[in-house]
Amino acid sequence: MILPAALALAVWAAEPAAWPPVPPGFSRPDSPLFSTLAKPEPPTEDLLAAGARWSNAAQAGRILPVARDSTFKIAVIGDAEPGRFSWERIFSPGKDAFARQLASIQSGAAKVVVQLGDFVSRGTVDNYRAHVRFLDERVRVPLLTVQGNHDRSRPNGSGDKSLYRAVFGPGDSYADVGGWRLVLVDTADRRLRPEQLAWLETALSGAERSLIFMHVPPAFLKGRIVAEEFQDMGADPEGYHPFEAFFEEGSREFGELASRHRVARVYVAHIHAFGHARHLGVPYVLSGGGGSPLYPLPPGWPARFAHYIDAELSPSGVRETVRKLDGSSFELNP
Ligand SMILES: [Fe+2]
Repeated sequence: MILPAALALAVWAAEPAAWPPVPPGFSRPDSPLFSTLAKPEPPTEDLLAAGARWSNAAQAGRILPVARDSTFKIAVIGDAEPGRFSWERIFSPGKDAFARQLASIQSGAAKVVVQLGDFVSRGTVDNYRAHVRFLDERVRVPLLTVQGNHDRSRPNGSGDKSLYRAVFGPGDSYADVGGWRLVLVDTADRRLRPEQLAWLETALSGAERSLIFMHVPPAFLKGRIVAEEFQDMGADPEGYHPFEAFFEEGSREFGELASRHRVARVYVAHIHAFGHARHLGVPYVLSGGGGSPLYPLPPGWPARFAHYIDAELSPSGVRETVRKLDGSSFELNP
């Protein structure tokens, strides 16, 4: 009797995969043993060297010049991590979905692609090495990235960001392309700190036209992300409130700041789905379908499919085409 009980306890402690599935964004508390074992790993020499190639600053320097008032394209792609546990991979849109979508982006006219975070299932040296190898082998278009919660040493709770910093650089930065400022913001800790908001204020003050990219969406979007292109989708009047799918701290201030600066779009991810919303006049686009598992979601949640977004930027604004992995596409009017 004691042995099976001890075995069950050991399984629970060591393997959160034994727990029931939870939708993305729900907090699955890490087991005590996992928390003990998941120690942050310091960056290795090869990862530090990769920063010279793949930091956002290095990649921004590769973007070909764009005339100030011209029209050009960028691409946006969301969560790509394959899932930490085997049961999660049941919902995968295909093992190579991220690679196929990146190949599609690179066959188009995008000047730069922005990946919205969660590119590894957990921030370990091995996972970062594999991702850097993938980038070295497959990616030719300039790539900017924001940090996702999975890209830290632990996906939930607090997590160390040393590996991300080594390869991709600071969490908050921007790149100017043509007359547009692409602003990358780190919400991987499920918050926006006052100093980040102050930095954003300055970054946006100097921009004529701007887009913001972040991983975890702000809390005011709870229950308001719709996908009316799909008949069975619509906002749940009660709203959905999965714990930790959104960030609370700094959310209200962020919404007001984005509105005051008339930000043209805010792209968010973390929820493995597609949808959009407006808040204080600013359009928000959820694009979490870069290749990660498409977990079942309750009715009223945004639509689930692997996709990326082609965004055409011109002095008159943004025009988006959502390109699905199955080859179909549709125009977006958020
Ligand atoms: Fe995430």
